[in-house]
Amino acid sequence: MRKPPIRAAITAVSHYVPDDVLSNSDLEKMVDTNDEWIRTRTGITERRILKNGGTSDLAAPAVRKLLDQRGIGPDEIDVILVCTVTPDMFFPPTACILQEKLKLKNAWGFDLSAACSGFLYGLVVGAQFIESGTHKKVLVVGADKMSSITDYTDRNTCILFGDAAGAVLLEPSAEYETGLLDHVMYCDGSGGEFLYMKGGGSLNPATHETVDKKYHYIFQDGKAVFKVAVVGMADVSAEIMERNNLTGDDVDWLVPHQANLRIISACADRMNLDMSKVMLNIDRYGNTTAATIPMCLSEWWLSGQLKKDQNLVLSAFGAGYTWGAVYIKWSMNNAK
Ligand code: UT7
Repeated sequence: MRKPPIRAAITAVSHYVPDDVLSNSDLEKMVDTNDEWIRTRTGITERRILKNGGTSDLAAPAVRKLLDQRGIGPDEIDVILVCTVTPDMFFPPTACILQEKLKLKNAWGFDLSAACSGFLYGLVVGAQFIESGTHKKVLVVGADKMSSITDYTDRNTCILFGDAAGAVLLEPSAEYETGLLDHVMYCDGSGGEFLYMKGGGSLNPATHETVDKKYHYIFQDGKAVFKVAVVGMADVSAEIMERNNLTGDDVDWLVPHQANLRIISACADRMNLDMSKVMLNIDRYGNTTAATIPMCLSEWWLSGQLKKDQNLVLSAFGAGYTWGAVYIKWSMNNAK
């Protein structure tokens, strides 16, 4: 277990989903698919879509709720980290757009791109500012408007993704025994060819041709990613348990990235966890990339199921490939 001089803890958690629902039966009218295939292969029933606005419009309401919950003003935030692969624009950073929208006027900030592992990467990066003693209130937002890069004529991908935001506040832990206790993070660039968006960057800037070739949409070789994700997420979850001498009985919650129910079940099996100890909302929101994990934390905390001193393993796998796990002893007092 790591022993930094100061421990970082989550002291507030919130999320936001847009109102518009895109159900499996809606998708049946758009591409050659069916509800049964989607549910059995992925676990998804519906997802939310933001019709107007960008990722900052998902992040802003989540952060507004978070500030209210913690009872602090916008000027008290020191650092803003927005984890996203769908920034409002290439630049300025969505963190700056969010700063302006919410008047987080004493903060500096930046965006972090690590796809579906984005929130875990952000959590670990954000924790460094607390652990080093340089900052007191770090906002980590996971937000993605995946509908903005989804090809709704491609049945392989359009059934998977949704739009949402989740946010946490990191502060020095009041008790050294609780907070972010350990992390294991990885990346492997050889996985890049299986999940990417080819266009819009410096390699393939936007042209009529890149639009015609659909370079501005997500490409995924689902089967290839599935094979690596199922092993990667299970292995890293088992690794963090071993490093911290945790058995399945010691873990209260697995908080997995919500990409596919079958990947999550395999991970729970490897950890010796019953599915009743797994946070699952993929059925209602699909894969919202950087937002999935903070959304689970927020929903489970608000409903009173996530309680103080519980042991959590957060685990994710995504494009890059990027993956990792974080071990947390939950610090917040019970919501209910
Ligand atoms: O979040 C970041 C990391 N991403 C992931 O972890 C995602 C990993 N991959 C997956 O979750 C799964 O691979 C998918 C859900 C994307 C696909 O499931 P699969 O069981 O791997 O299906 P498949 O791609 O092997 O396709 C099986 C069949 C194919 O037909 P044939 O070739 O067997 O005739 C597909 O054409 O299912 C077909 N298919 C569909 N059928 C109905 C593919 N998409 C659909 C669809 N509806 N939407």
